[in-house]
Amino acid sequence: MAIRKVGVIGCGLMGHGIAQVAAQGGCEVIVAEENQAFLDKGLERIDKSLAKLSEKAKEKGQTFDAAAVRGRIRGTLAKGELSDCDLIVEAIVENLDVKLVLFAELGKSAKREAIFASNTSSFPIAEMAAASGRPDRFVGLHFFNPVQLMKLVEVVRTDKTNEDVVAQARAFGEACGKTPITCKDTPGFVVNRLLVPYMAEAMKLAERGDASIPDIDVAMKLGCGYPMGPFELTDYVGLDTTLFILQGWARRYPDEAAFRIPKLLAEKVKEGKLGRKTGQGFYTWQGDKRV
Ligand code: CAA
Ligand code: NAD
Repeated sequence: MAIRKVGVIGCGLMGHGIAQVAAQGGCEVIVAEENQAFLDKGLERIDKSLAKLSEKAKEKGQTFDAAAVRGRIRGTLAKGELSDCDLIVEAIVENLDVKLVLFAELGKSAKREAIFASNTSSFPIAEMAAASGRPDRFVGLHFFNPVQLMKLVEVVRTDKTNEDVVAQARAFGEACGKTPITCKDTPGFVVNRLLVPYMAEAMKLAERGDASIPDIDVAMKLGCGYPMGPFELTDYVGLDTTLFILQGWARRYPDEAAFRIPKLLAEKVKEGKLGRKTGQGFYTWQGDKRV
């Protein structure tokens, strides 16, 4: 079965980007939200991103048919409209209970041969696969932020994932312009198992007063050649999402020091400072730019 029609659930930071790259890859896409304002904001982000890509293509003397890509994307508040999709990618809030309910519903409403995927940053794919009632047709498809620019997708297989489903998920990732890697269903897969403890350790360094937040960011950018320092990156990812990841791991692995939650992070989230998406995190943001 070729993947032609894709459903994306959640049109936030990640969902809007996944919808866009799937449409750029030639798929027909329906993106479902539970909230009209978030759907509008996500579709607006797609419009801005496509405008930017067109501008860049023009500068290089290339063609990029933004209108055709946009024409393949439709937003909805009715998840039932995804019932005939070949692939459904979930990109909703990082809350396992909410994801389990969603996949149980999808297991009943989606067509029998559909493939299910979660873009979770940290939760066990096998648990969502079990909730969906079709563990053999379930993978993790972990894209990176910003989806339009980051070239990797992690394809996460469980003990029950059918090999043909892994192959189709990899082919879909390639059609989206990404390089797929395949990995097992372990906490954080490859990238986040290394990256999230690094971000948390930077916060613990700042909490101890060992260096200031801007100096830590400058150190990692100039000392290691990273495009963003750990605080700028946490603002980019979302402080809420970073906290949800660590909370999930801290609950499951209470003895693992790398997963301990920094006070600084918990406090900022309590104050509603979630990073780029709310305009305030460790830094102040205007749209996608740091002020
Ligand atoms: N669509 C189209 N174009 C975009 C875009 C988008 N969504 N976002 C940015 N651009 C464009 C910009 O407009 C800019 O264009 P110009 O060159 O014409 O000005 C260009 O891309 C470069 O962007 P910026 O000038 O904003 O800045 P930059 O050169 O620093 O690149 C970046 C931005 C690619 C995000 C880079 O800073 C970077 O790689 N940062 C690290 C990102 C990262 O590590 N992501 C992974 C996070 S972890 C994760 O995702 C997993 C998880 O589960 C939490
Ligand atoms: P976000 O908060 O920007 O967006 C989540 C969206 O999901 C919101 O718009 C919300 O209205 C919607 N939503 C919540 N419950 C829903 C439901 N039941 N049905 C439909 N829509 C629903 O979050 P995000 O950063 O896009 O993260 C989404 C997922 O992607 C999470 O699992 C996260 O861990 C993962 N992820 C995030 C990043 C990142 O850098 N932010 C990177 C890779 C993976």
